[in-house]
Amino acid sequence: MKKSSIAVLFLSISIVLVVYLGYQNLFPQAEPPYDDDQEGLNGQLIFKFSHVVAENTPKGQAAAKFAELVDEKSNGTIQIVVFPNGSLYSDIEEINALKDEQVHMIAPSTSKLDMLSPEWGVLDLPFAFSEYDAIAEGVHGPIGEKLLQSLQKEGIKGLAHWPNGFKQITTNKGPVISPEDLAGQNFRIMQSKIIQAQFGMLGAIAQQESFNSTFKLIEEGKVDGEENTISNIYSRKFYTVQKHMTITNHGYLGYAVMMNQDVWDRQSNKTQQILLEAMKETTAWNDENAQKLNEEQLALIKENSSIEIHELSQAEQRQWMERLEPLYKEYEEIIGSELMEDLQDLKKRYTHED
Ligand code: LMR
Repeated sequence: MKKSSIAVLFLSISIVLVVYLGYQNLFPQAEPPYDDDQEGLNGQLIFKFSHVVAENTPKGQAAAKFAELVDEKSNGTIQIVVFPNGSLYSDIEEINALKDEQVHMIAPSTSKLDMLSPEWGVLDLPFAFSEYDAIAEGVHGPIGEKLLQSLQKEGIKGLAHWPNGFKQITTNKGPVISPEDLAGQNFRIMQSKIIQAQFGMLGAIAQQESFNSTFKLIEEGKVDGEENTISNIYSRKFYTVQKHMTITNHGYLGYAVMMNQDVWDRQSNKTQQILLEAMKETTAWNDENAQKLNEEQLALIKENSSIEIHELSQAEQRQWMERLEPLYKEYEEIIGSELMEDLQDLKKRYTHED
């Protein structure tokens, strides 16, 4: 054999060995197939995290915090690359993208998981939670745990709940004070049957549309309004194209953070442990940060815009509760008695007589 052929052979064997050993290092229990999409520079392990909201929102900041903690805990060997604003996938596409391993992590609003299994509707029931502590107890306790477990049958690993906060109503046809004021109005809503039913019950027309299309729909007059948290209303500038906002606190909006189960199973124990630790810290951090951000951004909306804001009094809020109460009965069977009982127990604990 010529000297040059021996050199080429030697070089090829060396390359194969280096690649193989690098692979073993990244995936110590490496029976599953190699995912070259996850290989980054210098042998880093890369996870793509896609979401649809802006960076200055609870979810945007929690994703960034999680990425920072994972980087720190892994000494830079694991990178979470965050794609905000639906730049990779819209809310309508992201669940399938996760299932197809096009993306490794997502955190859709729990309302949109209704399309996977209807029990998620429990978190969409009107006035399910009365304050942030009740949200935390609900989503980090048995209710939230059972819901995350339910993702298993879809091949999804539920990692945590990241609450955003309470939904408010914005519209160009207002003011909205009593529930009757919504009759005949057109609203953009998330992909959720129970939210659809809620607007239907009030005589409004609800259109399920993607989050990214909402601003344009309002601006072009294709809908009169929408419902969302302050942080989404602020960061997506809905308040600049709406005349009225009512602080109703009528519903919960929060996220289920998830990974594809196969992607999860392919990781080493050490990687899984780093991801879980970072997720636990981020989740606790988000509980505080989400509330703070929504409060700060409400102040900014008040300061910087002429939108007319009405905050429901307790008596006005009670009218909304009574009007929407029949949804609990209507959805009991769909959601399941266990989750319904868990929620009713929680509600009792957070009912304060005034
Ligand atoms: C919406 O579609 O209005 C929200 O779910 C967006 C989000 O992810 O907060």
